[in-house]
Amino acid sequence: MTALSRMLLLAAMSFPGVFSLAGQQKWVVGMSQCNLGEPWRVQMNADIRKAAAEHPELTVIFKDAQNDTLKQRAHVEEFVNSRVNLLIISPKEAVPLTAPVAEAFRRGIPVIVLDRRVLGAEYTTFIGADNKMIGRAAGRWAAARLGGKGKIVELKGLMTSTPGQDRHSGFLEGIQGTGLEVVFEADMKWLEPDARKEMESALAVHRQVSLVYAHNDPGAHGAYLAARAVGREKEMLFVGIDGLPQEGQVYVRQGILAASFEYPTGGKEAVETTLRILKGEKVPKEITLRSRVFTPENIKKGGEWLDQGTTPTTTKYTKASQ
Ligand code: FRU
Repeated sequence: MTALSRMLLLAAMSFPGVFSLAGQQKWVVGMSQCNLGEPWRVQMNADIRKAAAEHPELTVIFKDAQNDTLKQRAHVEEFVNSRVNLLIISPKEAVPLTAPVAEAFRRGIPVIVLDRRVLGAEYTTFIGADNKMIGRAAGRWAAARLGGKGKIVELKGLMTSTPGQDRHSGFLEGIQGTGLEVVFEADMKWLEPDARKEMESALAVHRQVSLVYAHNDPGAHGAYLAARAVGREKEMLFVGIDGLPQEGQVYVRQGILAASFEYPTGGKEAVETTLRILKGEKVPKEITLRSRVFTPENIKKGGEWLDQGTTPTTTKYTKASQ
């Protein structure tokens, strides 16, 4: 054994996953996904896989917590104990995942928090779109579309997760000072069957609804199915968030959704940022992704970009235009 190969072997033993015996740098990344029940999360993993495939020096190990916070905590601990070179996490809930993420970070593992936040600042970088801005844009869009007046059903995402909180507070800001009124709100936990059930209750109580604002497209679709089941789907507009080409955008083309606000998965950006961190570059603490709104009017042109403070264009809603 040459001195060089002995040195490499020693290095490989002290930093598993960093060096191959050939001396090439190899990195192992742990990806903790909170669930794979929704198309959006399947897409996030696919985006990570695709971007990582272009970098043979990266191996990504995926773990799916199946919407179970305790399981996700255990996954983070497993990744830390196996000394991955970097951790990517899309946490189910903010509070319970904060401590394990902070612990990983303290133990010297760089952490990318993706889409849903944890509390505090003990992680390397957060990547995601601005949920508050999206909620605000949805509120402004709804007010413009309804001519400044209407009864709203809000179907919220899991309120222990930060996108649910921000999409809610942003929307309220967006409709502030208008004649739009939220007459029914419920936490559907991001889940289509829950949204459908909550919407059945809303319809039973309210004889007239102008618009359903759901925090994600599965929620908006669940609400639509509930309204259709009682022949009331034409009475109101349905608005969702995610805007996946194979989901929200299809609903918009089919005329089921009046708008879907894009929520990019950030998978590609997470891989790009992973490489920058592993190569020793400094990255910003916060990487904010842009998003678009898709409506039947703009979908052929690829949607309309949302930017801070703007109200996306809308055609005024009249019953006749339905
Ligand atoms: C999937 C999902 C998306 C939503 C995101 C928010 O689990 O509910 O539909 O946009 O999570 O974190």
